[in-house]
Amino acid sequence: MKQLTSSTKGVTTVKNFLTVLTAIALFGLVACEGPAGPAGKDGATGVTGPNGTNGTNGTNGTNGVDAGFVYFEGFKANLRCATCHTPDSDTAKFVNARRLEYASAGHMTGTAWARGLNSTTCASCHITEGHIESARGDYASQATKSYPNGTQPGCFTCHTPHVNGDFTMRKTTAINIKSFVVGAADVSFNVGSANACVTCHRTRETSPMSPLPDPTKTAATDSIVITSNRFYPHYGVQGQILVGKGGFEFAGYTYPSSFHTTMASQKTIQCADCHMATPTVVVEGKTVAGGHSLKIGYSSSSTDTVGSMNVAGCRASGCHTDLTANTMTKTNFKNYRTAQKDVSAGLDTLKKYLVAKGWLVAATDLANASTSKPLVIKPAYLAGTLFNYFFLEHEGSHGIHNTKYAKALLDASIAEIKK
Ligand code: HEC
Ligand code: HEC
Ligand code: HEC
Ligand code: HEC
Ligand code: HEC
Repeated sequence: MKQLTSSTKGVTTVKNFLTVLTAIALFGLVACEGPAGPAGKDGATGVTGPNGTNGTNGTNGTNGVDAGFVYFEGFKANLRCATCHTPDSDTAKFVNARRLEYASAGHMTGTAWARGLNSTTCASCHITEGHIESARGDYASQATKSYPNGTQPGCFTCHTPHVNGDFTMRKTTAINIKSFVVGAADVSFNVGSANACVTCHRTRETSPMSPLPDPTKTAATDSIVITSNRFYPHYGVQGQILVGKGGFEFAGYTYPSSFHTTMASQKTIQCADCHMATPTVVVEGKTVAGGHSLKIGYSSSSTDTVGSMNVAGCRASGCHTDLTANTMTKTNFKNYRTAQKDVSAGLDTLKKYLVAKGWLVAATDLANASTSKPLVIKPAYLAGTLFNYFFLEHEGSHGIHNTKYAKALLDASIAEIKK
């Protein structure tokens, strides 16, 4: 918008009131160039005063750009608000529909967002405000300032519609995932829109677990002293398992990956392909799976005890075309290629061994360790069995993200703990 300002430069140096009035009249109004707005008018001509000269004409303002509404600092140039904030029914971008779907997402229904409040080390992944601060530094640091007020990860977490002018992802370049196994390299995750998810669904760096498990510490005298019952990096390890990294790889075994990993390396599969599949599934008036609910598993009714899976994403052309419907029961899904069944059974077996060793508490599903009662494992490398147990539990898909890698980690862990 064009702004008309009167120059007051030099006013403080004049000696009396009359001179002040005269000076103001003389300088007149000068039009300055605004970033956007209607064409400016000529500046007013100064009136001749007793001691002064005529003010100069103001320059014309540039033609205003149609901002759709008004120019705002930081918004994308030429942004048309009504592309998304439609004056009538929103059938262009379906922003309202996405908002409705998103109300069912774990991001909104879960309680972990509150952990981002008043915390410099949790805000970057748990609240939008901290996330945006981290984004300004391209996610190089997970430490932020502390936010007493904050909101769940929301539209402006993944998108930045006012800056981009569309719903492309805020983060599209590679993201570094820190390794928590000695000798294993960090992972540069660069898959596509999934990068935006992995800005949070990755290991936490601000308070790294320690000590780290080490595959080379195999001597009988090597010991590891674990003083925390949370012997794992953090919950969101989906980025790592999708690319077939991040587990504790015992020497002497091979760790193949499934086709999902091949696709990730070709950038032809994204988290959204499976988690945001369309059409969405609506039960009793709520979007329970697909779209912006980010969900795959759901209950098909309030009395459903088995659960269902939205497999619409799996059926994409060229993928699992043997699946005949968009949804199936969780039981049938478990049996499908026996992927989830095998991984769940492997996890149960590993858990039994870990509990028998006294390394895992069955009831809490946490390591049997604390500062007052540390857990000592000898030889130290066997701590990798505990690490893999948590890794595979936290990836959350019971092996679907990368079945072969999950099975390989389980098989090796079970073989080693049995020795
Ligand atoms: C590319 C789509 C898009 C465009 C274009 C767009 N917005 Fe938005 N805007 C959104 C979305 C999405 C939200 C968040 C809606 C929600 O939280 O449910 C939003 C939220 C807002 C809010 C609420 C902010 C808040 O913090 O809750 C305001 C105000 C707003 N927009 C104004 C504008 C104005 C003014 C323009 C034009 C200069 C504009 N928007 C252009 C998508 C857009
Ligand atoms: C700002 C960080 C952030 C981003 C970005 C993010 N997530 Fe999340 N996500 C979380 C957090 C934190 C939780 C845990 C919420 C809770 O339990 O309260 C979560 C939970 C989830 C859940 C539910 C987990 C459960 O056990 O119910 C799914 C599914 C999910 N995210 C998928 C995604 C996908 C897919 C993307 C990208 C399209 C994504 N997330 C992007 C932080 C993020
Ligand atoms: C690098 C991003 C990141 C940081 C930093 C982070 N979290 Fe999380 N956190 C996540 C994600 C992603 C999830 C959800 C993972 C999932 O559901 O698979 C999560 C889940 C959680 C959960 C839910 C766990 C459960 O059992 O469902 C809690 C509690 C939590 N975080 C606490 C914290 C606390 C406390 C901090 C700070 C000390 C923190 N987080 C820092 C990404 C992060
Ligand atoms: C967790 C990350 C995440 C959050 C939060 C999120 N979105 Fe999205 N959104 C995506 C992804 C990923 C896509 C692309 C899906 C695809 O192409 O398969 C998308 C696509 C869209 C599209 C379609 C864009 C197009 O051009 O087709 C719209 C509109 C949209 N989102 C609006 C919203 C609104 C409104 C909110 C808040 C209620 C929101 N999104 C929150 C990840 C997210
Ligand atoms: C090949 C399809 C596929 C891809 C790609 C995929 N997921 Fe999943 N994911 C699944 C399935 C299937 C489940 C199990 C869902 C269930 O049991 O309800 C799952 C479970 C999860 C869970 C546990 C919570 C939940 O909703 O059950 C989270 C969190 C999650 N995925 C996040 C991600 C993230 C982040 C990405 C990208 C890095 C990703 N997923 C990529 C298929 C996929």
